[in-house]
Amino acid sequence: MESFPVVNMENVNGEKRATTLDIIKDACENWGFFELMNHGISPELMDKVEKLTKDHYKQCMEQRFKELVASKGLGEVETEIEDMDWESTFFLRHLPESNMSEIPDLNEDYRKTMKEFVEKLEKLAEELLDLLCENLGLEKGYLKKAFYGSRGPTFGTKVSNYPPCPRPELVKGLRAHTDAGGLILLFQDDQVSGLQLLKDGEWIDVPPMRHSIVINLGDQLEVITNGKYKSVLHRVLAQTDGNRMSIASFYNPGSDAVIYPEPALVEKEAEEKNQVYPKFVFEDYMKLYAGVKFQAKEPRFEAMKAVEHTVISTPIATA
Ligand SMILES: [Fe+2]
Repeated sequence: MESFPVVNMENVNGEKRATTLDIIKDACENWGFFELMNHGISPELMDKVEKLTKDHYKQCMEQRFKELVASKGLGEVETEIEDMDWESTFFLRHLPESNMSEIPDLNEDYRKTMKEFVEKLEKLAEELLDLLCENLGLEKGYLKKAFYGSRGPTFGTKVSNYPPCPRPELVKGLRAHTDAGGLILLFQDDQVSGLQLLKDGEWIDVPPMRHSIVINLGDQLEVITNGKYKSVLHRVLAQTDGNRMSIASFYNPGSDAVIYPEPALVEKEAEEKNQVYPKFVFEDYMKLYAGVKFQAKEPRFEAMKAVEHTVISTPIATA
């Protein structure tokens, strides 16, 4: 079996540039995921983010999670739980404006460290989008512009911990889904695994690698590339031992950005077979996604197509 795609970002600007871009291209077309090494974010900063996130979990989140488990009786279930995940999370928003000062329980050091970390991730996301443009034959900056809307991209972070679980066969850490947005940058625990993606009908581990950043593509990149690039199903398995940390940052379109397949990427054949992805406002997609996150993505695209056609077929007032 082919091995999970790993990209050494140091090679992007050296003599191995072409091979490196090929690994990224293959990953975008066939895996929906790849893992970055030497991405320019320092190991010291990542270690600090990890330590502060784990401290924060112990101090502010763990007790809350235990109480939730007790109140829902999750520890004693005998049948599979299909409407909940075994995870403890909180969200940070950075763009278009930060909400970090409003999040309770974040100390000054944690806030500052996260700010520094996500600013670096934002740059990395934009650098990657340009590498995708290059691989797609699009002009530099095309994807950044496609995501821009009137106020720039939406950028946020979901900080999660997956505590040890007594019955991992009955509950998922996070149920299978594809991500709705653009590009996702994940700093995952290097000790406790659990993240898996679906490839050719099989669940494959996303290997924990120290100081790496895992990248995956969301539904919007599938739409813009008219299916050339794939948003892939993934899930997190709960584990009996160890607490898995996961810091996922989402570089997404602005809420009013209009998303549609880039015309040069729509092949004639796709057009003839009516396999062109829909055009929509990103916010409308997110409203739909909120209720159907854990269902297949294809019906979402179909639903957006249906709406698109309603809009187009509405009679235009001529008087
Ligand atoms: Fe996800």
